[in-house]
This record gives sequence, structure tokens and C-alpha cells, in this order.
Amino acid sequence: MESPKGQGVSSGYTITLEAHWRETSRKSRFRNDASNWHTACTDKSMAKSKLVASTHVALPAETRKKMADLLNGLLASTLDLHSHAKQAHWNVRGPHFLTLHELFDTLAEQTVKHGDEIAERAGQLGYAVFGTLRQGAAASKLTEYNLEIASGEEHIRRLSQSLGEYEKLLLKGIESAEDAEDYVTQDILTRICGEIDKSMWMVESHIVVVAPEAETLTSKKAVAQSAA
Ligand SMILES: [Fe+2]
Repeated sequence: MESPKGQGVSSGYTITLEAHWRETSRKSRFRNDASNWHTACTDKSMAKSKLVASTHVALPAETRKKMADLLNGLLASTLDLHSHAKQAHWNVRGPHFLTLHELFDTLAEQTVKHGDEIAERAGQLGYAVFGTLRQGAAASKLTEYNLEIASGEEHIRRLSQSLGEYEKLLLKGIESAEDAEDYVTQDILTRICGEIDKSMWMVESHIVVVAPEAETLTSKKAVAQSAA
């Protein structure tokens, strides 16, 4: 059986984690699919949305249920994203330690706020919120964070990957909310998406990655200037 994606077996610490993974996978109801952590983390692994209160929110019952499923699924990935930011906050090393240590913590705080908004929207629709870490681990759709990285650049690249994966989920959610005509949920997710874009900019701007199209523009400009 393989360890979760992104984890190796080179250190004693990681070996302990792998042993833990084997044990939990053996006991898990996903035991037939435990070799693929990401595949196992589907909607099927999340508890069914549970209606707990009646409400006069002016949306059809079917729409409220659909949105509760969506919101609880997003909450799981939000909890996971929080853990990724904390993982980076606790483990980053290198010349820009303090700046990155604080930036990653700010990002973690932001995910707590986002998780709160998402969870409370499910509550507003009359549904139970599945907000435990175990629910998050079971239902998150983010790729597991790499536990072996340490440098600032590695954490920047890895965290921007997580932010990108999370944003794709948000965009799908925005589309679903629009289709369902739940414009309040759509608005909440759109605002969160905008804040994630800003966070991505804050994180990615610590390294310079020249986009291929930017190189093309630069070279075209150089050609035009040399021809003038
Ligand atoms: Fe801290």
C-alpha cells in the first residue's frame, strides 16, 4: 500500500505517519480504495446533509438541500486548506522566515473566517454543519500537503497549488449556486473567491515566475525597439 500522495519514507517521523496511515486505512470504510488518498476523498466520504430546523428562507427545500451538500463539501476543503497554511507556518525555514511565517498564519486566519461563513450559510438553510477535523479529512478534495518540504520557496509553490485547487472548487460552487438561483450562497462564495485571489497574489509574489506570454510580449517589445 502506498502512503498518501506527497509523503515519503525517508525520516523516522514520516515512517510513523505511514504506519498510522496504514492502520487507519485498514480500519477505514474506504479500505478498497486506500491506495489513492485523493480518490477516496470524494463526496461519498462525507456524511449526508441533515435537515435540523425549519426556516422561512425563500428557497425551495430541494435547493436548500443541494446547497447544504455543496457548502458542507466546501467546508471540508476549507478545513483542510487551513491545515495546509498552518503546516507551512510551522515548518517554513530560510532567509525570509519571519515574513513567510506571518504571511502563512494570516492565510490560516483567513480560512477560519471563510469556513465560518460557509458553515453558517448551511445553518441558515436549516441544515447541520459537518465541521469536525475528521469530516474535513474524509471529504476534502485538496491534494494532501507535502510533509517533507522546508524552504520558503517550496512552501510558496505548494501553498499556491492548494489555493488554486480550492479556488476551482469555489468556482464550481458559484456556478452551482447560480444554477440553483441561490444568489446569497453565490455571493458568499464569490467574495471568498476574490479574497483567495488576493491571497494567491500575496503568496506567489514572493517568487518571480515569468509567464510564457509575458516573455513573448517582452521579446516582441525588444524586437520592435531594435527595429525602430
Ligand atoms: Fe503561530
